[in-house]
Amino acid sequence: MWTKIDEGIAKLKKSLSDNVVKLRQQVSQGFFQFKPFSIKQKMVLTWWCPSSPVKDSEGIIADGSIRSGKTVCMSLSFVMWATETFDGQNFAIAGKTIGSLRRNVMFWLKLMLKSRGYKVQDRRSENLMVVRRGNIINYFYQFGGKDERSQDLIQGITLAGVLFDEVALMPESFVNQATARCSVTGSKFWFNCNPQGPQHWFYTNWIKRCRTRKILYLHFTMEDNLSLSEEIKERYRRQYVGVFYKRFILGLWCLAEGLVYPMFDRDRHVVPEFLGTGRYWISIDYGIQNPFSAGLWCLRDGVATRVAEYYHDGRKTKQQRTDEEHYAEVEKLAGENYIERVVVDPSASSFIETVYRHGRFSVDKARNDVVPGIAAVSTLLLAGKIQICECCEDCIREFGAYSWDPKNHEDAVIKEYDHAMDDVRYFVNTILRNELRWEQWNGRE
Ligand SMILES: Nc1ncnc2c1ncn2[C@@H]1O[C@H](COP(=O)(O)OP(=O)(O)OP(=O)(O)O)[C@@H](O)[C@H]1O
Ligand SMILES: [Mg+2]
Repeated sequence: MWTKIDEGIAKLKKSLSDNVVKLRQQVSQGFFQFKPFSIKQKMVLTWWCPSSPVKDSEGIIADGSIRSGKTVCMSLSFVMWATETFDGQNFAIAGKTIGSLRRNVMFWLKLMLKSRGYKVQDRRSENLMVVRRGNIINYFYQFGGKDERSQDLIQGITLAGVLFDEVALMPESFVNQATARCSVTGSKFWFNCNPQGPQHWFYTNWIKRCRTRKILYLHFTMEDNLSLSEEIKERYRRQYVGVFYKRFILGLWCLAEGLVYPMFDRDRHVVPEFLGTGRYWISIDYGIQNPFSAGLWCLRDGVATRVAEYYHDGRKTKQQRTDEEHYAEVEKLAGENYIERVVVDPSASSFIETVYRHGRFSVDKARNDVVPGIAAVSTLLLAGKIQICECCEDCIREFGAYSWDPKNHEDAVIKEYDHAMDDVRYFVNTILRNELRWEQWNGRE
């Protein structure tokens, strides 16, 4: 029997390694399996061609839902347009950061170009891709709109065109700098993004003014990506609710208003108690005047449970606690459990020092991007990946009160009842999304 099992394992290993070899060959041969392009994608691919009625536009904007096929067709069209129109020129391709640009755009773009017969040379250390077709050669420099170094570097370059992927996640100053570098005759601007709030600078200054700026504007939904099955589209729809549903699925530039977590449902997310064990973490939002909030989390079978919490409101109790006193409470919260990491509000340097000094816990400074963090918490609540034990009363109370600020148009939350909400977000955005490989099943960053 054992020989049969060994043979089976050997076969499995071989087929796995064959698959890996096949995948590597496909990648090295420049293989990209194109599905039919939708009408919108075809418009993006051809708007600049000599026979197009809109070829004289100064640029193009494609906005709308996630996964709607904007990046794929726009990045390919950008290089095709550059190759047909220019020779020996510089172009810029910008993403939120160089890292996200490489993962989300350049990897696929190189495959598509190779499968279309372009010669592509990637000079990673210079953030440069050199593209040749016949005797034509052009240079595509990569920039991260949020990377400070990129902001300095783009100032010295002369460009014949720039593509901004996920432009709404970049500072306006970077976009202004990059567009101002486009001094070559015939240069054009290419933008794509998912919607944000209606007062966002890109919506007011570019989309609303696209006619006066002579920029072609196309709105995408998931129906414009013919490579997505109905099942996959349904899965994406199920991942969002409220403002994120309107923005990411319907593709609308709408205001964040009302409750931040309208999907939080006592019947579904609150459990009487948690029995057994799993892997443990603690998340902390630090406050001296404001409340100090800490949650003990246990991850088991792909679900994270807030098992217990420590919440101290110095103002309410008229009793301020020192870092040492808070630390003693955090130790109590941990109990006998092995804590993999304590995730702390990145600005709480004195408390982080205190935790280090005691030597029991390893510390992670929390990822503090508020809106992407809230989006991750929302999605994981909807998916039933987060639950709260009944004893965590302050956290449950805050879930029911935490609201967007209607007076602020910049996606801000009301800075009240937000302490447990911050520590929940720190845990989810720093630990849970990696543990559950959220990016992989979500397909995006
Ligand atoms: N014509 C096509 N052939 C094959 N795959 C495609 C095609 N169009 C889109 N896709 C695939 O669909 C997925 C989503 O496409 P893309 O990244 O272009 O969407 P997006 O609108 O930029 O999404 P996001 O807003 O999330 O960045 C990608 O995996 C992409 O490879
Ligand atoms: Mg995209």
